[in-house]
Amino acid sequence: MRNELVIRDLHARVGDKEILRGVNLTLTSGEVHVIMGPNGCGKSTLAHVITGRPGYVATSGSVTLNGTELLTLEPSERVREGVFLAMQHPLEVPGVRPVDMMRAAGVTGNVESQLAEQSRRIGLRTELMERFVNVDLSGGERKRAEVVQISVLQPKFALLDEIDSGLDVDALGLVARRLHEATKEWDLGILAITHFRRLLHELTPDVIHVMSHGKIVATGGPELAEQLERDGYEPFREIE
Ligand SMILES: Nc1ncnc2c1ncn2[C@@H]1O[C@H](COP(=O)(O)OP(=O)(O)O)[C@@H](O)[C@H]1O
Ligand SMILES: [Mg+2]
Repeated sequence: MRNELVIRDLHARVGDKEILRGVNLTLTSGEVHVIMGPNGCGKSTLAHVITGRPGYVATSGSVTLNGTELLTLEPSERVREGVFLAMQHPLEVPGVRPVDMMRAAGVTGNVESQLAEQSRRIGLRTELMERFVNVDLSGGERKRAEVVQISVLQPKFALLDEIDSGLDVDALGLVARRLHEATKEWDLGILAITHFRRLLHELTPDVIHVMSHGKIVATGGPELAEQLERDGYEPFREIE
C-alpha cells in the first residue's frame, strides 16, 4: 500500500502571530520532497505543527496520514501513526536513552543491536547510543543520531529539518545516501527542509517546493533548486 500524507489549507500560529497561511502539500511513500525558503518563512513551524509540538497551533486546515487526521492526536500518537521529525536543533532528553525512546515508539526485538547496526552504517560510534538522547553529543553527532533513530523506527514519513546543518562533507554524504536507501528499503517518504543543494545530490529529490511568508509559492523539479542557488529567493517573494 502506498502511504499518503496530505496537508490541506493549513493555517497555524505561534503565540498570536499567524505563521502558516494556507499550506497545501501531498507526500507519497518513496518520494523525496524538499522545502526551501528564506529564514523565518515558516519551514520549521510547518514541521512542528505536523508533529504536534506544544505552542505551534493549527488554526484551520488538516493533516491526514492515510485518511487519519493527525492534528487531533497527541505527539506520541503521531509518531506511532508513522511520522517522525528530525529537528533542526535536536533536544537533549536527560534520563532517556535511545533504546527507551524506540521502545516507547513501538519498536520491538533487540533494539540495542538495531541501534548499533544502524549507527555503524552511517559511521557513528555505537557507544553514543548508550548515552541519554543527545546529551554530550556534538551538533553533527545529533544529526546522525536522528538518522539512526529513523533507520530503527522505520516511520512512513520523515520530516528532516536542516538535517545537513552541522555535518561535515563526509557525514553529509553518508546521511544522504542512507536516507535515499530508506526510500527504497521500506518506501520511506521524505520531506526535507534545506538551504543547500549539496544534500540533494545524494538524496535525489522528486519535487522541490519554495516557501515564502507561510505559503508554498512555487513547486517544480530538481531544476528549481538550481534556480534558487543562482537567483536566490527574491524572485519568489510573494506579491501581496
Ligand atoms: N517558539 C516560537 N516563539 C516565537 N516565535 C516563533 C517560534 N517559533 C517560530 N517563531 C517565529 O515564526 C516565524 C517562522 O519561524 P520558523 O518556522 O522557525 O522559520 P524557518 O524555519 O523557515 O526559518 C519566525 O518569525 C519565528 O520568529
Ligand atoms: Mg527553521
